[in-house]
Amino acid sequence: MTDQAILQVRNVSKAFGGVKAVQEVSFDLYEGEVLGIIGPNGSGKTTLVNLITGFVRKDAGKVYYLGQDISRWPAHRIADAGLVRTFQVMRPYATLPAFKNLIPPLYAPRARRSARGKFGDRTAVAIDLLEEVGFERDAYVPYKLAGSLPLGYLKRLELARCLALRPTLIICDEVFSGLSMSEIASMVPLIERLQLSGMTLIMVEHRLRELFRVANRVVVLNFGQKIAEGTPQEVVQNPEVRRAYLGEED
Ligand SMILES: Nc1ncnc2c1ncn2[C@@H]1O[C@H](COP(=O)(O)OP(=O)(O)O)[C@@H](O)[C@H]1O
Ligand SMILES: [Mg+2]
Repeated sequence: MTDQAILQVRNVSKAFGGVKAVQEVSFDLYEGEVLGIIGPNGSGKTTLVNLITGFVRKDAGKVYYLGQDISRWPAHRIADAGLVRTFQVMRPYATLPAFKNLIPPLYAPRARRSARGKFGDRTAVAIDLLEEVGFERDAYVPYKLAGSLPLGYLKRLELARCLALRPTLIICDEVFSGLSMSEIASMVPLIERLQLSGMTLIMVEHRLRELFRVANRVVVLNFGQKIAEGTPQEVVQNPEVRRAYLGEED
């Protein structure tokens, strides 16, 4: 980890009608870090991801990525700069085999640039990417229709779709949700490997125990506002977090 902030979120806000989904949220993200964003259902986590990645227009606030003001950039331009995200609600090309879901991102400008014209066989690259995220090699899984894959594989496919772009920063929106304990246990080393390889990650999560295994630092949202920030140990001991998120009386 270095002390270089690669993402700076400043007073970002969004309302949907009367619902203040995200209210003046600010935080920094440092290179090589895994930052967790937690909060109860409806606390604004996905909206915050959408605001950072250009999928939803901000009412106010700024986002700086690698020193550039990306506040008004469209989603495709942000992704092309290496800031990519997974979707909580996944929409794979259901009628295509899993590996073919990776062909479109492998033709994206960023993937082309990083391959410097030496892509060779994109099918082989796609299969390699699936192996990297834990699809068994030589097994039939990469060739199964994406629509028939169990949730655990769809989450991995989402990650592979991001990795196809050779990202600098990946924002994962609930990659653990809906997975069994054993599926999560096999996913955690993958996240750790990505961090070791130099990737910076934001993990938006509901599942605290698993998140706390991988997150260096955590931001806590409640009703669209940031109510705490710190190490996992610090935030679970924060009384406001315990009241808001853990539903505990003190
Ligand atoms: N497109 C939208 N239109 C209207 N309300 C929305 C929209 N997206 C999110 N919201 C509302 O904003 C709030 C935050 O939602 P969301 O960001 O999905 O929370 P989380 O991901 O933490 O569960 C919720 O009250 C939700 O109903
Ligand atoms: Mg969400």
